[in-house]
Amino acid sequence: MIIDHDVIILGTGLAGLRAAVEIACKSGDMVNMGIVSKVQLMRAHSVCAEGGTAAMLREEEGDNLDLHAWDTVKGSDFLADQDVVYRFVETSPQEILLLDHWGLPWSRTDDGRILQRPFGGHSYPRATMAADKTGFFEMQTLYDTLTQYKNFTRYDEVFATSIIAEKGRFCGVTMIDASTGEFNVLRGKVLLIATGGLGTLYGFTTYSQTVTGDGQAMAYRAGLALEDSEFLQFHPTGLVPSGILMTEACRGEGGYLRNKNGDRFMEKYAAAKMEVAPRDIVSRAEMTEIIEGRGFEGPKGLDYIHLDLTHLGADKINHRLPLIREVTMKFLGLDPIYEPIPVRPVAHYSMGGIEADINGKTKMEGVWAAGEVACTSLHGANRLGANSTAECLVWGGFAGAEIVKYLGTNPGIPDMPADRVEEEEKRIFQDMLMRDGNENPYQLRRELREVMDFHMGVFRTGDEMSAGLEKVRKLKERFNNVNIQDKHRIYNSNLINTLELENMLLLAETMIVAALAREESRGGHSRRDFSKRDDVNWLKHTLITPTDNGPKLDYKDVTITKWKPVERKY
Ligand code: FUM
Repeated sequence: MIIDHDVIILGTGLAGLRAAVEIACKSGDMVNMGIVSKVQLMRAHSVCAEGGTAAMLREEEGDNLDLHAWDTVKGSDFLADQDVVYRFVETSPQEILLLDHWGLPWSRTDDGRILQRPFGGHSYPRATMAADKTGFFEMQTLYDTLTQYKNFTRYDEVFATSIIAEKGRFCGVTMIDASTGEFNVLRGKVLLIATGGLGTLYGFTTYSQTVTGDGQAMAYRAGLALEDSEFLQFHPTGLVPSGILMTEACRGEGGYLRNKNGDRFMEKYAAAKMEVAPRDIVSRAEMTEIIEGRGFEGPKGLDYIHLDLTHLGADKINHRLPLIREVTMKFLGLDPIYEPIPVRPVAHYSMGGIEADINGKTKMEGVWAAGEVACTSLHGANRLGANSTAECLVWGGFAGAEIVKYLGTNPGIPDMPADRVEEEEKRIFQDMLMRDGNENPYQLRRELREVMDFHMGVFRTGDEMSAGLEKVRKLKERFNNVNIQDKHRIYNSNLINTLELENMLLLAETMIVAALAREESRGGHSRRDFSKRDDVNWLKHTLITPTDNGPKLDYKDVTITKWKPVERKY
């Protein structure tokens, strides 16, 4: 079946929903949208965002846009494009107020103002919060707002397989409707990719199991470049052993990190910022403590340190961190009011993504990208906490507005090349589903995650990464022999999980290729064999594109408008 829409939005997290609201509002509900989620719309991973959304709201009390921009640039290890950063910090306060008008129950000060708290690498408390369930309330508010409009169709539990384009122009997306097993095509004038990150490439991760990098992989296969793929953020506090996010707000609210001797070790690594230093620095500090024997022995090699909230008191924990208490009690039977929490660095966020300009436009006509899936060069080599939900809102808004403008030029719905659709259906339902192989996709997925955990962690070396790349390439070969046990069409999660695995393998290869080439340490990419930042050779963005001979690397300049790189001290 072929279904037409003006705009197709892939992904229903914060960026996708914010864009949908903007498109509906700016067009007076005249644009017809298809909104696609591979799960149920409100189960997008954005609901898991906890600690806050960064925005400069308190100029009269000492915060200012320059300070937020400087914190972001310094946090990025000077790889962020400074024009992009500035536009971001100027816009995020408006997003907070919009959500306020739309009914988001922000946490409040005693005198009724929107409450903000400290977050890593920010020199002012600017993480705007709804307790520690910020993403959930943002999603709820955006969806409530969207339902005031009528011109959209939800496609829940629909898995997009490929972008079809002709002569550099977007035509449509092929997809499997899980509930019927039908293979459909959505044709459109515009595609917005807002599918989030790729964190489940790792075994120890904060991500929902659904976050498998599909949008990035589809874009890459369609010929778009991925930018700065080597920069993967490890959040300092993943709960051991599940990896569930213990929000940075725990430290923003005053929590301590302690090693097994009870020492607040951050004093040695970032004495001025202590536990609220940027994430790359805190994660390296924790791993150094663990590697040098000052961590606690954990299950399955997951040695850990302690996140200690016991001095905060029951009132603060219950009001500001209720989710953290609920999770630690449910998962570990541990009450953080009385006991420290076992944590270690955990795969959390992809700084890289689909190359996109300052408006979220990609290099393919008719295609925009917003949120974690995109790389607008906002985060550089290390993202600051709370800048991610803000990014989703800001670029959801920008992309939505730009899309409405573009539709004003009457682009029309291009014809869909029928042979390409047939090829895609055959690739999936004959070649892959009916393949008589002997490799179990779930085993391959497990092995891939072990490779990424081990070879592409907080600290890296060329030898380890080369060995990792070889393993990933072997896994790719074995994938050609994959066996999907369920041969039916309806709710075939085996098939969809295998398509996800294909995406993950592709992205793992691009990440390692990009990381191996970057012979320096910067932000989240920390090499033992090239331990210094090298601005002479590496102050540049990586671009990676597919060729018949595998991934090809190119580079482009960083936009520096105001701040020249300096040594990063905290
Ligand atoms: O720690 C957190 O609540 C995560 C926030 C973020 O990644 O921005």
